[in-house]
Amino acid sequence: MALEQLLDSIAEKGWYIWDDFLTIEQVKLLKNCASDDWHRARIGRKEEIQRATDIRRDKIQWLDVDMGQPVQDYLERMESIRREVNQSLFLGLFEYEAHFAQYEVGDFYKKHLDAFRGNESRKLTTVFYMNEDWSEENGGELNVYDLNDQLIQTIAPIAGRLVVFLSEQFPHEVLPARAKRHSIAGWFRTNGVSESRFDILS
Ligand code: OGA
Ligand code: MN
Repeated sequence: MALEQLLDSIAEKGWYIWDDFLTIEQVKLLKNCASDDWHRARIGRKEEIQRATDIRRDKIQWLDVDMGQPVQDYLERMESIRREVNQSLFLGLFEYEAHFAQYEVGDFYKKHLDAFRGNESRKLTTVFYMNEDWSEENGGELNVYDLNDQLIQTIAPIAGRLVVFLSEQFPHEVLPARAKRHSIAGWFRTNGVSESRFDILS
């Protein structure tokens, strides 16, 4: 079962690719929950917010239960994963936060760690992809590295695929998109202080 594979894989190597996490039908419904209200993300701690379009070009909107049942279902699914991970891996995950992300043609996200200074509470990253009919010429692959900067895996952002990895151990980058790219990035955190929310101010 995929959930057991996830737990084994996170314990053994720290990352996992879960294909068909949702059906194409569910992906469509979830994708439609995003509004037209996209924000440019900012990077850094709340004291030193900087616009960082040289680092990332995507636009985002935070998931909220008010967005509809598909979003509620997605968040509930993550909640059950959170409990399972805590029971078997003792990560002490406390909360989950996630945003829709939209990459226009040419948009990218340069190599980074999700648990950067000021955001150490991010422990486990999830990225869910919603690109139906993705093909290689669409670009926008996720490159995952180890802490020695060795490329571990290039991952295509295909619809229904969920990627999970330990936030502190895997630098990663989004290669330039050559077609509009849709995803949901999310993080399980160890405490209730939502530091990152201060980073993303519209
Ligand atoms: C992020 C991120 C990866 C992706 O939003 O922090 O690294 O494939 N996203 O969208
Ligand atoms: Mn990231």
